[in-house]
Amino acid sequence: MRYHLTTFGCQMNEHDSERMKGMLESLGYREAPERGQADLILFNTCSIRESADSRFVAHLGEAKRLKREDPRRVVGVGGCWAQSLKEEVFERFPFVDVAFGPGQVHRLAEFLTSDSLTAQGFFEFEGFTGRLPARRARPFQGWLQISVGCNCRCSYCIVPSTRGREVSRPLEELVGEVAAMAADGVREVTLLGQNVNSYGRDLRGPRGPRSFSELLRALDRVDGIRRIRYTSPHPKDMREDVIRAHAELPSVCEHIHLPLQSGSSAILKAMRRTYDRARYLDRVALIREHLPDTALTTDIIVGFPGESEGDFAQTLELVEQVGYDGAFTFIFSPRRGTEAGQITERTVPHSVKVQRMERLVEVVQRRAHERAQRFVGRTLEVLVEGPSRTDPERLRGRTRHNKVVNFAGVAAPGELAQVRIDAATSQTLSGEEPLLARAAR
Ligand code: 5AD
Ligand code: SF4
Repeated sequence: MRYHLTTFGCQMNEHDSERMKGMLESLGYREAPERGQADLILFNTCSIRESADSRFVAHLGEAKRLKREDPRRVVGVGGCWAQSLKEEVFERFPFVDVAFGPGQVHRLAEFLTSDSLTAQGFFEFEGFTGRLPARRARPFQGWLQISVGCNCRCSYCIVPSTRGREVSRPLEELVGEVAAMAADGVREVTLLGQNVNSYGRDLRGPRGPRSFSELLRALDRVDGIRRIRYTSPHPKDMREDVIRAHAELPSVCEHIHLPLQSGSSAILKAMRRTYDRARYLDRVALIREHLPDTALTTDIIVGFPGESEGDFAQTLELVEQVGYDGAFTFIFSPRRGTEAGQITERTVPHSVKVQRMERLVEVVQRRAHERAQRFVGRTLEVLVEGPSRTDPERLRGRTRHNKVVNFAGVAAPGELAQVRIDAATSQTLSGEEPLLARAAR
């Protein structure tokens, strides 16, 4: 039996998909290179913005056609889109055989091994799919899901309704999983959670609540792990202990993704972000004080309902002031079941949203370009990923600051190379592995 899996959305979904693949392969399924050759057609979906929904629904059309061609094919839909529609999935798309939410990946195996002839949906929130074996896309990079769910109530966001309340995994279990990954050849691990730095507050038992910085310290001690990253933290929980952990722990990388969303306190309040402009800037100041070289990136939404030209000007000004190393920018998209999705008055016209987006991207890129110049002339450690996408004669990898580097060199994927940087744009660096370093290999 062969499966084909298409993944949409965030790194959490990519990780869930690795576990789906690991699980299917342990059931004896093999991966089909094309959807048309698969007995089991799977989608791991996202609903963060409307564009994510529509991209997926376009793919679903092909699955419908293939199912009509051969009704023995099984069509399965997992992830956040499925969770947000639940049983409605089957009403809207009757050719779907099985649908399951993000916490229910293991139930797919149950469905496939049962003799069920009727469509089934699995949508409870119940902890982790974490104990499933993962089939990693790159053997030297691993993901670690440290918590599921989210207790925030950001008014624009569908995630609390698709991934449930926050539950942290026990610290000792996470250390064990990372030790096993290290023994398996993983050198870089990325900790995943909807709100990673609130990790551990919900943990009970003899050792009581734990903290995110405590987890970083415990993972830093695991032999063989050279780099630790995490995504995404919430500014409200970015405390001094986490910043100190960056400064003190050799494996914790020089990169912090600190989602801003808006530079206007009024909009932040309407978004229910629980911090205002001044508190966000305080966090940035603390980071800059302790970690002056650390890369800072962010997420920003433009065109939230009620965002005036003045509010937007405050976002532009903050971006100018902070000087991010990069930013993901989004146009507000109303989502079903969210508070902001219901607002009908004072919505920002689409043309204004698009214009604001363009103005924002201009500032983001100009500042990122300026910031990136600090790397020129330095020799940086690069984790090699493979050949460069633009020039197969060159290699591609990432610095600890999470910058992509294209470079001339001889290092193999998974190796840490020393690369001298000779040029930088807003997005990528380029450089060369010095001849001496090459000769030493
Ligand atoms: N519209 C636009 N962007 C959104 N994000 C989350 N929900 C929405 C929405 N409804 C953005 C936020 C978040 C990132 C992952 O996606 O910036 O940090
Ligand atoms: Fe998409 Fe958010 Fe779900 Fe990730 S958690 S798949 S970004 S809706």
